[in-house]
Amino acid sequence: PQTDLESFHTHLKKSKRVLALLGAGLSASSGLPTFRGAGGLWRSVKSTDLATPQAFARNPGLSWQFYNYRRHMSLSVEPNPAHYALAKLARKMPGFVTLSQNVDGLSQRADHPSDRLHLLHGTLFDLKCSDERCDYREENYTDPVVPALAIPADQAQPAGSVVDISDSMVALPSLTTYDLPHCPECKRNLLRPGVVWFGEALPEVVLNKAKDYLAAPENIDLIMVIGTSAQVWPAAGYIGQARARGARVCVVNMDSDAPPGGWKQGDWMFAGDAAVLVPELLKPVIG
Ligand code: APR
Repeated sequence: PQTDLESFHTHLKKSKRVLALLGAGLSASSGLPTFRGAGGLWRSVKSTDLATPQAFARNPGLSWQFYNYRRHMSLSVEPNPAHYALAKLARKMPGFVTLSQNVDGLSQRADHPSDRLHLLHGTLFDLKCSDERCDYREENYTDPVVPALAIPADQAQPAGSVVDISDSMVALPSLTTYDLPHCPECKRNLLRPGVVWFGEALPEVVLNKAKDYLAAPENIDLIMVIGTSAQVWPAAGYIGQARARGARVCVVNMDSDAPPGGWKQGDWMFAGDAAVLVPELLKPVIG
């Protein structure tokens, strides 16, 4: 794949319809751990233990400790220049749409226009009833959810330190369901984080938005695949779908050797920190 900034800039300036597929690597230099690879979350905490409906049913206290901690971590760091650059691109280019796998809320805090930011895996800051028959939902809820779990500010982890969460959870009080938030609507069930767990379907609204964009008559000029290992479906599938609509592929990833996933045949591969590369790549349009 070309690593030629010039040819990428030329293509970007001609592009009308551009997609960005975002992953945890976009937020890495803000200080949030990714999932796979060095320091990734799933290495210290097995995803099967926590990010599934079964895990929540089995041990909601442990699950809430994990998600409360991730909410706390996400709020204790700042969006980085890449989040802001993508938000600026959305304001300058009407045909630009961001499909984000990230639940950390950083794109939102960088004022990314919400009508062009589709959160494929939900967000840590939505709460919903754990019984899907109940439609209770609370959006942008940033207060501590579980008082017993409120991490005192003086104990806030410095940004960028990936604490082995399992230790900190052991240190936290063990919780019974009485300590955990219950749905104020049906009163019976526990509240859960508004994120998509393994084995769950992505939000219908978001899937349809992505489908409509991909099915629109005009071709797609470019998809930027930023900070994702492209191993989780259906998100990873958008790369092939965009390519099938004529899109050229621009990969931005710390690892130059392509981890498995559809983006190996990227037309451009820019290896390095997204926070540094993305503003550079978008300069011709965002200035
Ligand atoms: N800049 C660019 N890329 C980076 C950086 C960085 N500073 N740091 C890490 N990366 C790259 C890694 O090389 C890796 O390819 O970001 C990618 C992160 O991949 P994952 O940790 O697998 O995260 P992601 O692809 O977002 O995971 C997808 O899996 O666990 C589920 O739902 C969760 O949304 C998540 C999904």
